[in-house]
Amino acid sequence: MRKFGLIGRVLSHSFSQQYFTQKFSREGLSAECEYSLYELEMVDLLPALLKNNPELVGLNVTIPYKKQVIPYLNSLSEEAALVGAVNCIKINSDGTLVGYNTDVDGVRFSLDKLLGDTAVASALVLGSGGAAQAVCYVLRERSIEPCVVSRQAGKGDICYEELTQEVIASNRLIINATPVGTFPHIDECPAIPYDHITPSHFLFDLVYNPSQTEFLRRGLSKGAHTLSGIDMLYAQADKAWDIWCR
Ligand SMILES: NC(=O)c1ccc[n+]([C@@H]2O[C@H](COP(=O)([O-])OP(=O)(O)OC[C@H]3O[C@@H](n4cnc5c(N)ncnc54)[C@H](OP(=O)(O)O)[C@@H]3O)[C@@H](O)[C@H]2O)c1
Repeated sequence: MRKFGLIGRVLSHSFSQQYFTQKFSREGLSAECEYSLYELEMVDLLPALLKNNPELVGLNVTIPYKKQVIPYLNSLSEEAALVGAVNCIKINSDGTLVGYNTDVDGVRFSLDKLLGDTAVASALVLGSGGAAQAVCYVLRERSIEPCVVSRQAGKGDICYEELTQEVIASNRLIINATPVGTFPHIDECPAIPYDHITPSHFLFDLVYNPSQTEFLRRGLSKGAHTLSGIDMLYAQADKAWDIWCR
Protein backbone atom coordinates (compact mmCIF):
# COMPACT_ATOMS: atom_id res chain seq x y z
CA MET A 1 0.00 0.00 0.00
CA ARG A 2 1.29 3.48 -0.87
CA LYS A 3 -0.12 6.04 1.50
CA PHE A 4 -0.71 9.72 0.73
CA GLY A 5 -2.35 12.39 2.82
CA LEU A 6 -2.92 15.96 3.84
CA ILE A 7 -1.57 17.63 6.96
CA GLY A 8 -3.11 20.78 8.40
CA ARG A 9 -4.91 21.87 11.54
CA VAL A 10 -8.59 21.68 10.52
CA LEU A 11 -9.33 19.47 7.52
CA SER A 12 -13.07 18.85 7.65
CA HIS A 13 -13.70 20.63 4.31
CA SER A 14 -10.75 19.14 2.45
CA PHE A 15 -10.94 18.80 -1.33
CA SER A 16 -7.82 16.63 -1.61
CA GLN A 17 -9.06 13.40 -0.05
CA GLN A 18 -12.12 13.24 -2.29
CA TYR A 19 -10.07 14.20 -5.34
CA PHE A 20 -7.36 11.57 -4.85
CA THR A 21 -9.77 8.82 -3.71
CA GLN A 22 -11.81 9.33 -6.89
CA LYS A 23 -8.63 9.42 -8.97
CA PHE A 24 -7.40 6.11 -7.45
CA SER A 25 -10.78 4.52 -8.13
CA ARG A 26 -10.89 5.81 -11.74
CA GLU A 27 -7.36 4.61 -12.45
CA GLY A 28 -7.75 1.19 -10.77
CA LEU A 29 -5.32 2.10 -7.98
CA SER A 30 -7.66 1.76 -4.97
CA ALA A 31 -6.07 -1.52 -3.81
CA GLU A 32 -2.58 -0.04 -3.72
CA CYS A 33 -3.08 3.66 -2.92
CA GLU A 34 -4.86 5.42 -0.06
CA TYR A 35 -5.28 9.13 0.75
CA SER A 36 -6.00 10.15 4.37
CA LEU A 37 -6.46 13.34 6.34
CA TYR A 38 -4.02 13.97 9.20
CA GLU A 39 -5.11 16.80 11.45
CA LEU A 40 -2.09 17.92 13.48
CA GLU A 41 -2.58 20.11 16.52
CA MET A 42 1.03 21.29 16.09
CA VAL A 43 3.52 20.81 13.26
CA ASP A 44 6.03 19.18 15.61
CA LEU A 45 3.78 16.10 15.56
CA LEU A 46 4.92 15.43 11.98
CA PRO A 47 7.90 13.13 12.88
CA ALA A 48 5.60 10.92 15.00
CA LEU A 49 3.05 10.79 12.16
CA LEU A 50 5.77 9.62 9.75
CA LYS A 51 7.07 7.05 12.24
CA ASN A 52 3.58 5.61 12.78
CA ASN A 53 2.82 5.50 9.05
CA PRO A 54 5.91 4.03 7.34
CA GLU A 55 3.94 3.48 4.10
CA LEU A 56 3.51 7.25 3.57
CA VAL A 57 5.14 8.39 0.34
CA GLY A 58 3.53 11.79 -0.21
CA LEU A 59 1.85 14.57 1.76
CA ASN A 60 0.04 17.75 0.90
CA VAL A 61 0.38 20.59 3.37
CA THR A 62 -2.25 23.21 4.15
CA ILE A 63 -2.98 26.07 6.55
CA PRO A 64 -1.23 26.83 8.88
CA TYR A 65 1.81 24.64 8.16
CA LYS A 66 3.03 25.66 4.68
CA LYS A 67 5.93 27.63 6.18
CA GLN A 68 6.20 25.94 9.58
CA VAL A 69 6.91 22.56 7.99
CA ILE A 70 10.13 23.70 6.29
CA PRO A 71 12.52 23.00 9.23
CA TYR A 72 11.32 19.35 9.25
CA LEU A 73 12.38 18.75 5.61
CA ASN A 74 15.76 17.56 4.30
CA SER A 75 15.66 19.69 1.16
CA LEU A 76 13.47 22.00 -0.88
CA SER A 77 12.89 22.40 -4.60
CA GLU A 78 14.31 25.65 -5.92
CA GLU A 79 10.79 27.09 -6.29
CA ALA A 80 9.68 26.15 -2.78
CA ALA A 81 12.83 27.80 -1.43
CA LEU A 82 12.21 30.98 -3.45
CA VAL A 83 8.51 31.17 -2.53
CA GLY A 84 9.25 30.28 1.10
CA ALA A 85 6.31 27.87 1.40
CA VAL A 86 5.71 24.13 0.88
CA ASN A 87 2.38 22.52 -0.02
CA CYS A 88 3.69 19.15 -1.18
CA ILE A 89 6.19 16.72 0.41
CA LYS A 90 7.77 13.72 -1.25
CA ILE A 91 8.89 11.03 1.21
CA ASN A 92 11.77 9.07 -0.31
CA SER A 93 12.38 5.37 0.41
CA ASP A 94 15.34 6.31 2.65
CA GLY A 95 12.97 8.50 4.73
CA THR A 96 14.28 11.84 3.49
CA LEU A 97 11.67 14.55 2.94
CA VAL A 98 11.71 16.95 -0.02
CA GLY A 99 9.44 20.01 -0.06
CA TYR A 100 7.80 21.41 -3.19
CA ASN A 101 5.42 24.25 -3.97
CA THR A 102 2.82 23.15 -6.50
CA ASP A 103 0.61 26.20 -5.88
CA VAL A 104 2.91 27.98 -8.36
CA ASP A 105 1.92 25.43 -11.01
CA GLY A 106 -1.72 26.10 -10.23
CA VAL A 107 -1.21 29.85 -10.54
CA ARG A 108 0.64 29.42 -13.87
CA PHE A 109 -2.17 27.29 -15.28
CA SER A 110 -4.83 29.74 -14.08
CA LEU A 111 -3.11 32.85 -15.44
CA ASP A 112 -2.64 31.15 -18.82
CA LYS A 113 -6.34 30.35 -18.88
CA LEU A 114 -7.52 33.76 -17.70
CA LEU A 115 -5.18 36.02 -19.68
CA GLY A 116 -4.61 34.00 -22.85
CA ASP A 117 -2.44 36.22 -25.06
CA THR A 118 -3.30 39.44 -23.21
CA ALA A 119 -0.23 41.20 -21.84
CA VAL A 120 -0.55 43.04 -18.53
CA ALA A 121 2.22 45.04 -16.90
CA SER A 122 1.14 44.98 -13.26
CA ALA A 123 -1.30 43.31 -10.89
CA LEU A 124 -2.94 43.91 -7.53
CA VAL A 125 -2.53 40.94 -5.19
CA LEU A 126 -5.02 41.09 -2.32
CA GLY A 127 -3.55 39.56 0.85
CA SER A 128 0.00 38.97 2.01
CA GLY A 129 0.00 35.30 3.08
CA GLY A 130 1.58 32.15 1.64
CA ALA A 131 -0.74 31.95 -1.36
CA ALA A 132 0.05 35.59 -2.23
CA GLN A 133 3.76 34.72 -2.15
CA ALA A 134 3.21 31.95 -4.73
CA VAL A 135 1.15 34.35 -6.86
CA CYS A 136 3.84 37.06 -6.71
CA TYR A 137 6.52 34.52 -7.67
CA VAL A 138 4.63 33.56 -10.85
CA LEU A 139 3.80 37.18 -11.70
CA ARG A 140 7.48 38.19 -11.48
CA GLU A 141 8.42 35.18 -13.61
CA ARG A 142 6.13 36.71 -16.26
CA SER A 143 7.47 40.25 -15.79
CA ILE A 144 4.13 41.35 -14.30
CA GLU A 145 4.86 43.70 -11.39
CA PRO A 146 2.86 42.65 -8.29
CA CYS A 147 1.46 45.22 -5.87
CA VAL A 148 0.47 43.51 -2.61
CA VAL A 149 -2.59 45.01 -0.92
CA SER A 150 -2.77 44.47 2.84
CA ARG A 151 -5.10 45.50 5.65
CA GLN A 152 -2.07 46.64 7.57
CA ALA A 153 0.29 49.44 6.52
CA GLY A 154 3.82 48.21 5.92
CA LYS A 155 2.84 44.54 5.53
CA GLY A 156 2.23 44.77 1.78
CA ASP A 157 2.89 47.53 -0.76
CA ILE A 158 -0.33 49.47 -0.20
CA CYS A 159 -3.50 49.36 1.92
CA TYR A 160 -7.09 48.96 0.75
CA GLU A 161 -7.76 52.65 1.54
CA GLU A 162 -5.21 53.61 -1.15
CA LEU A 163 -7.09 51.82 -3.96
CA THR A 164 -8.17 54.86 -5.97
CA GLN A 165 -9.77 54.84 -9.42
CA GLU A 166 -6.31 55.51 -10.85
CA VAL A 167 -4.75 52.51 -9.08
CA ILE A 168 -7.56 50.23 -10.25
CA ALA A 169 -7.27 51.58 -13.82
CA SER A 170 -3.53 50.94 -13.95
CA ASN A 171 -3.82 47.36 -12.68
CA ARG A 172 -5.97 45.34 -15.08
CA LEU A 173 -5.24 42.10 -13.25
CA ILE A 174 -6.60 41.76 -9.69
CA ILE A 175 -6.04 38.57 -7.71
CA ASN A 176 -7.80 37.67 -4.47
CA ALA A 177 -5.27 35.73 -2.36
CA THR A 178 -7.26 36.18 0.86
CA PRO A 179 -9.83 33.72 2.27
CA VAL A 180 -12.53 36.43 2.13
CA GLY A 181 -15.70 35.10 0.47
CA THR A 182 -15.08 31.44 1.35
CA PHE A 183 -18.10 29.34 2.38
CA PRO A 184 -20.02 29.95 4.63
CA HIS A 185 -19.19 33.68 4.36
CA ILE A 186 -20.27 33.78 0.73
CA ASP A 187 -21.70 37.33 0.84
CA GLU A 188 -18.32 38.84 1.77
CA CYS A 189 -15.74 40.16 -0.66
CA PRO A 190 -12.42 42.04 -0.48
CA ALA A 191 -12.85 45.78 0.17
CA ILE A 192 -11.88 47.17 -3.24
CA PRO A 193 -13.80 49.86 -5.19
CA TYR A 194 -15.68 47.59 -7.62
CA ASP A 195 -17.26 50.60 -9.37
CA HIS A 196 -13.92 51.24 -11.09
CA ILE A 197 -13.69 47.73 -12.57
CA THR A 198 -14.14 47.70 -16.37
CA PRO A 199 -14.49 45.08 -19.14
CA SER A 200 -10.70 45.28 -19.63
CA HIS A 201 -10.05 43.94 -16.13
CA PHE A 202 -9.15 40.33 -15.23
CA LEU A 203 -10.20 39.02 -11.80
CA PHE A 204 -8.74 35.78 -10.42
CA ASP A 205 -10.03 34.44 -7.10
CA LEU A 206 -7.95 31.75 -5.36
CA VAL A 207 -11.05 30.88 -3.33
CA TYR A 208 -12.68 27.77 -4.84
CA ASN A 209 -15.68 27.29 -2.55
CA PRO A 210 -18.01 28.68 -3.80
CA SER A 211 -16.87 28.62 -7.44
CA GLN A 212 -18.65 31.94 -8.07
CA THR A 213 -17.55 34.22 -5.23
CA GLU A 214 -18.94 37.66 -4.47
CA PHE A 215 -15.59 39.12 -5.69
CA LEU A 216 -16.02 37.43 -9.09
CA ARG A 217 -19.75 38.19 -9.22
CA ARG A 218 -19.06 41.91 -8.76
CA GLY A 219 -16.34 41.79 -11.42
CA LEU A 220 -18.62 40.00 -13.85
CA SER A 221 -21.33 42.61 -13.31
CA LYS A 222 -18.82 45.20 -14.57
CA GLY A 223 -17.98 43.09 -17.62
CA ALA A 224 -14.59 41.86 -16.34
CA HIS A 225 -13.02 38.50 -17.26
CA THR A 226 -13.04 36.18 -14.23
CA LEU A 227 -11.59 32.87 -13.05
CA SER A 228 -12.20 30.93 -9.82
CA GLY A 229 -9.66 28.95 -7.79
CA ILE A 230 -11.00 25.60 -8.98
CA ASP A 231 -8.59 25.31 -11.91
CA MET A 232 -5.69 26.09 -9.58
CA LEU A 233 -6.89 23.45 -7.15
CA TYR A 234 -6.87 20.70 -9.79
CA ALA A 235 -3.58 21.86 -11.32
CA GLN A 236 -1.71 21.89 -8.00
CA ALA A 237 -3.08 18.43 -7.10
CA ASP A 238 -2.09 16.96 -10.49
CA LYS A 239 1.41 18.38 -10.11
CA ALA A 240 1.71 16.82 -6.63
CA TRP A 241 0.78 13.44 -8.10
CA ASP A 242 3.50 13.84 -10.80
CA ILE A 243 6.06 14.58 -8.09
CA TRP A 244 5.05 11.59 -5.94
CA CYS A 245 5.19 9.24 -8.95
CA ARG A 246 8.62 10.38 -10.22
N1 LIG B 1 -7.30 27.35 -5.34
C1 LIG B 1 -6.22 26.82 -4.78
O1 LIG B 1 -5.67 25.81 -5.23
C2 LIG B 1 -5.65 27.48 -3.58
C3 LIG B 1 -4.31 27.22 -3.20
C4 LIG B 1 -3.80 27.90 -2.09
C5 LIG B 1 -4.60 28.78 -1.37
N2 LIG B 1 -5.89 28.97 -1.78
C6 LIG B 1 -6.76 29.90 -1.08
O2 LIG B 1 -6.14 31.16 -1.04
C7 LIG B 1 -6.55 31.86 0.14
C8 LIG B 1 -5.33 32.42 0.86
O3 LIG B 1 -4.50 31.36 1.28
P1 LIG B 1 -3.33 31.61 2.37
O4 LIG B 1 -2.76 30.29 2.66
O5 LIG B 1 -2.40 32.68 1.89
O6 LIG B 1 -4.23 32.11 3.58
P2 LIG B 1 -3.93 33.05 4.86
O7 LIG B 1 -2.46 33.03 5.10
O8 LIG B 1 -4.86 32.58 5.92
O9 LIG B 1 -4.43 34.49 4.40
C9 LIG B 1 -3.83 35.20 3.37
C10 LIG B 1 -3.90 36.68 3.65
O10 LIG B 1 -5.23 37.14 3.48
C11 LIG B 1 -5.41 38.32 4.26
N3 LIG B 1 -6.61 38.13 5.06
C12 LIG B 1 -6.87 37.12 5.94
N4 LIG B 1 -8.08 37.29 6.49
C13 LIG B 1 -8.60 38.42 5.95
C14 LIG B 1 -9.82 39.13 6.14
N5 LIG B 1 -10.77 38.69 6.98
N6 LIG B 1 -10.01 40.26 5.42
C15 LIG B 1 -9.07 40.70 4.55
N7 LIG B 1 -7.90 40.07 4.34
C16 LIG B 1 -7.67 38.95 5.04
C17 LIG B 1 -4.18 38.48 5.14
O11 LIG B 1 -3.31 39.47 4.56
P3 LIG B 1 -3.18 40.94 5.26
O12 LIG B 1 -3.09 40.67 6.73
O13 LIG B 1 -1.93 41.47 4.68
O14 LIG B 1 -4.40 41.71 4.89
C18 LIG B 1 -3.51 37.12 5.04
O15 LIG B 1 -2.13 37.13 5.16
C19 LIG B 1 -7.34 30.84 0.98
O16 LIG B 1 -8.71 31.06 0.78
C20 LIG B 1 -6.95 29.50 0.38
O17 LIG B 1 -7.98 28.53 0.50
C21 LIG B 1 -6.41 28.36 -2.87
